[in-house]
Amino acid sequence: MKYSGKRLISVLEGQVVSPPPVWLMRQAGRYLPEYRALRAKAGSFWTMCNDPDMATEITLQPIRRFGFDAAIIFSDILTVPFALGRTVTFEENVGPRLEPVTSAEGLERDPAIWREKLSPAYETLKKVRAALPAETTLLGFAGAPWTLATYLAAGRGGDEQKAAKLWGYRNPESFEGLLDLLGDCVAAHLIAQLGAGADAVQIFDSWASGLPAEAFARWVVAPTKRIVDKVRAAKPDAKIIGFPRAATLQGYEFYARETGVDGISVDTAAPQDWMSDFDMPIQGNLDPLLLVTGGDAMARAVDALVDSMRGRPFIFNLGHGVLQETPPEHVAALVARLRK
Ligand code: CP3
Repeated sequence: MKYSGKRLISVLEGQVVSPPPVWLMRQAGRYLPEYRALRAKAGSFWTMCNDPDMATEITLQPIRRFGFDAAIIFSDILTVPFALGRTVTFEENVGPRLEPVTSAEGLERDPAIWREKLSPAYETLKKVRAALPAETTLLGFAGAPWTLATYLAAGRGGDEQKAAKLWGYRNPESFEGLLDLLGDCVAAHLIAQLGAGADAVQIFDSWASGLPAEAFARWVVAPTKRIVDKVRAAKPDAKIIGFPRAATLQGYEFYARETGVDGISVDTAAPQDWMSDFDMPIQGNLDPLLLVTGGDAMARAVDALVDSMRGRPFIFNLGHGVLQETPPEHVAALVARLRK
C-alpha cells in the first residue's frame, strides 16, 4: 500500500492503512523511568508543561522508545483555565486543583493574553516538529468546554460533574456563557497549535459520560461543533479527532454526525461490531488494564481488535490513558505485535 503522507493523517482522510497507525493517550508520563527522572529534577508537572525544552524532551521520550506513528505534545487541558486567569495546581496523588468559579465574569477575555499564557505549547510544537521523524504525525490537543467547565465549577475532576450540572440546570444562560468563552479560547488554542506545526488536533471531553441526552447535545456536541467550525474557518484542511469519552453509542453517533470532526476516539466499552460498522475513521480502544496485564491476554485482545477493524479507517489506541503501573516492555510488545 502506498501512502500519500503521514499514516495517521491518511486514516483521518478516510483511507485504510495497514497495519493501523498507533499512538497511546498519555504515552508520555510516569510509567517511563526517563520521565520520572526528569520530573524529579524539574520538581513539578506544571513546571515541565510550561518549559518548552523539557516538554519537548518528554514528548519525544516515547517516540524514541517505541516509534509510535504520532507524538502528542506534552501539555495539559488545564492550560486553558490558566489562560483564563485561574490558578491551577497539581497535588501529588490527588490530581489537579483550581479555585472554583460560579460565573464567567472575571475570566480573562483578551485573546492576546490567552496566546501569551499558552505560548509554551506553541514553542514546544515548533521544537518537537524540528526533532521529529518526517513520517511521524504531530498532535496538538485541548480539553472540550464541558470537561473544562467541570474542573472550573468544582475546582477538581471526578465528582460526577455535580457542580457543573447544577450550574447548567439552575442557570443555563450563565453556564452557556461559560461554555462559549471556553470554546473561544479552545478554538484559538487549536488554531495556534495548527499554526505552530501540529498536523492534527484532538479534543478531549473526558467527562462526557452520564449526561442526559438533551444536555449532551447542548453542553458537549454544540460547543464542540462551534469549535470545529471556528478552526475550519481559519484552517480549512485541519484534521480533528473528537473524544467524548464514554458517551453512549447513540451519543457517539450523534457527536460524529453533528460536530464535523474527522475521526472519533472511543472508550473501552465500545463494542467491536459497532466500531467496525461505524461510518467515520475511528480510534481506540484497548483497555489500559490489558496493557498493564501484557502477555497472551493482551496479544489476543490486540489481534481481535485489529481483525475486527480490518478494511476500516482505524487508529490503534487505548480507551483512555496509559496507567502509571504499566510496564514499558508491554508497550514495546504491543507495538511489535501490531507491526509483526
Ligand atoms: O497524552 C499525552 O501523553 C500528552 C499529555 C497529556 C497530559 N494530560 C499530561 C499529564 C494530555 C493529552 C493530558 C490531557 C488531560 N489532562 C485530560 C484529558 C485526558 C484524560 O485523561 O481524560 C485531563 C482530564 C487532564 C487533567 C489532568 N492532568 C489530571 C486529571 C491529572 C492528574 C491525573 C494523574 O494521572 O495524575 C493531570 C496530570 C497529568 N497530565 C500528568 C500527565 C503526564 C501526570 C503528571 C505527573 O504527576 O507527573
